Amino acid sequence: MVNLDKAVQLLEDEDVVGMPTETVYGLAGSIYSDKALRKIFAIKGRPFFDPLIVHVASIEMASQLVQSWPSSATILAAAYWPGPLTMVLPKNEKVSDLITSGLETVAIRMPNHPVALKLIKAFKYPLAAPSANKFGKTSPTEKLHVEDEFKDDGLLVLEGGACQVGIESTIVMIEELNEKMVRLTLLRAGMLTFNEIKRKLEEHLYRVVINEAVEKKLAPGRMKHHYMPKKPLIIVKSDLSEEAIIKRLEDELIHLPAIVEGVEIIKPAKIEKLNFLNFSTRPEEAARELYGTLRRESINDGDVLIFKKEEIHEGEAWAAFFDRINKAASLIIT
Ligand code: TXA
Ligand code: MG
Repeated sequence: MVNLDKAVQLLEDEDVVGMPTETVYGLAGSIYSDKALRKIFAIKGRPFFDPLIVHVASIEMASQLVQSWPSSATILAAAYWPGPLTMVLPKNEKVSDLITSGLETVAIRMPNHPVALKLIKAFKYPLAAPSANKFGKTSPTEKLHVEDEFKDDGLLVLEGGACQVGIESTIVMIEELNEKMVRLTLLRAGMLTFNEIKRKLEEHLYRVVINEAVEKKLAPGRMKHHYMPKKPLIIVKSDLSEEAIIKRLEDELIHLPAIVEGVEIIKPAKIEKLNFLNFSTRPEEAARELYGTLRRESINDGDVLIFKKEEIHEGEAWAAFFDRINKAASLIIT
């Protein structure tokens, strides 16, 4: 593959490339190049306090980045890697502060995409990669989305088709308290649910303690607003009429702050036409559709995007979808 060779060459030259994964496309650079890492933050417009995920192509590669590789991580890797699970573990000196934002831990995952795995294997070193979008904006699930986002940067993006999962990996921090006892800190919901992870460890006779009350310092980068489309997205939880929605928006949108935690809150120029979004009633499919729909409908007609939350959206299978769409919304009307 010609472009794969070119991508490896760019990585060797301490540059960055667009890399498909099964979740979303990433903006990848060598974990051993400060120049590449700085470029990732620079072209994304990402603050340095938001740490990066390191992508590996083998467990051996992963185990070289941590102080010790816990047996619970072996179990989870056997069950879910390659796949949409990111494990946060105590790092060793090979992992720079630029990647971890100065934390003592590193986030690692093995993506389930042939192109990503080929790229990492050909380059021979792990790749740090955030989602390939500008800071605070909608994540990319197609090559074109990445090219669109980084038009001015001459970025090489490897073709990998449409992302099969469609939203980012589940992130858990793993602490082995003793031989058969693990504390899991839930850092980001994904299509692999926290309960599945917990049950998997319990099958292997672990006692699992769940830490849900996450302090800011353990979970940097968890912004209130994130994934924001170009047109304002409004989530409507009740059965309001169109007129009632427009009235509420006219009353409430103007009072929103311009920026929250460095992310611009998207506001409409006028509110006349509402664009109601449609997603599959199946959570896996809705997740796959989410970011592409936000991008596409932002160019279509309508002044605001409206998503109606219904009763069918209850339950853990929808947790990751709502984590993302809630953060993408300028306003949630209950
Ligand atoms: O599916 C994914 O995980 C995608 C693809 C490209 O692999 N990547 C992704 O990266 O979503 P990004 O940069 O958009 O989100 C990474 C998040 C950070 O914002 C932070 O919340 C968390 O991972 N993170 C990274 N390192 C961490 C650490 N050491 N401790 C706690 N959270 C960490
Ligand atoms: Mg992201």
